[in-house]
Amino acid sequence: MHKIAIIPGDGTGPEVTAEAVKVLKVAAAKFDFKVELTEFDFGGERYKRTGELLPDSAVEELRTFDAILLGAIGHPDVAPGILEKGILLKARLALDQYINLRPVKLFPGVETPIKGKGPNDIDFVVVRENTGDAYTGTGGVTMKGTPQEVAVQTAVYNRFQVDRCLRYAFNYARKYGKKAQGKSNKNTLALCGKTNVLTYIYDLWERAFHEMGQKEFPDIAREYYHVDATCMWFVKNPEWFDVIVTGNMFGDIITDLGAMIQGGMGIAAGGNLNPEGVSMFEPIGGSAPKYTGQGVINPLAAICAMQMMLVTLGEEKAAAAVEDSVMFTTANKLKSLAAGRMGYSTSAVGDLVAARIA
Ligand code: IPM
Ligand code: MN
Repeated sequence: MHKIAIIPGDGTGPEVTAEAVKVLKVAAAKFDFKVELTEFDFGGERYKRTGELLPDSAVEELRTFDAILLGAIGHPDVAPGILEKGILLKARLALDQYINLRPVKLFPGVETPIKGKGPNDIDFVVVRENTGDAYTGTGGVTMKGTPQEVAVQTAVYNRFQVDRCLRYAFNYARKYGKKAQGKSNKNTLALCGKTNVLTYIYDLWERAFHEMGQKEFPDIAREYYHVDATCMWFVKNPEWFDVIVTGNMFGDIITDLGAMIQGGMGIAAGGNLNPEGVSMFEPIGGSAPKYTGQGVINPLAAICAMQMMLVTLGEEKAAAAVEDSVMFTTANKLKSLAAGRMGYSTSAVGDLVAARIA
């Protein structure tokens, strides 16, 4: 029995979450496990009605679940930052979900904007640190509104945060890297940083990376890329990458680029993981207000997020079946992954994926 908290959230979040739940139920029936689903209404509407974001009591309640499935957070009537900080970032930090795992995998039949590249070339994973960097809220403003205004927002990392993220990434590379998948003769972990300018933070990351790699993971090949060069190679030679580890801010940025080369926000999924606690899974795309309620948004990213949740819950067979069904659907059914151009409605796509699993 898995106890799952469902937070559909804002905009198209509820529509895509409903399809992920549909597929989850079919997978549970097929692979013989039970799920107990509890829905929470955190998001922009509740905030507008009650002023409440994610209260501390809700965080405590969420701790009692085995996993959380999130649709989208973001509302056109609410100023940017309020819901993101008050709900999404609060959950990530309060539940200490220190890894943001974001696979970049081009599924068969999916169009990539990178000319000449296919599923064999675009198949890597970004391990984004998810608690530190410029996301800690360290900073402030003085003389606000005057011509002398000063704003400071500090990127912060400590050795503990860096080490636990690196250890997760090395272990991930060992278990799921290209050698482990039979696709290469080595498993590779690349550190993405900016050691030429961020000479404190990425010096810390780089030293920790090589120390840990030498001592504990001599079997994992190590590479280093500056973040700007990483963007360049994502486009020019995505096949070079296997597992990439990086800080929170660079991870945020390069995974939007990653999402585009894997076919867009319709398919990109991620997991906010606390390997020792409660993890939260979400499509990377936002709440897409302009498509809300039309039944045209692509639910595959939410379904893929649910698939990652199944892996974390130990339902590996069900997870493999869901991935297989999504791949079949992209290869044989959908015309495009873009909202309104799939050739199917949101719920019809959910039906297609569910039908092949049942
Ligand atoms: C993401 C988003 C969030 C982030 C925002 C909404 C706070 O861009 O999940 O990548 O920056 O982490
Ligand atoms: Mn982002």
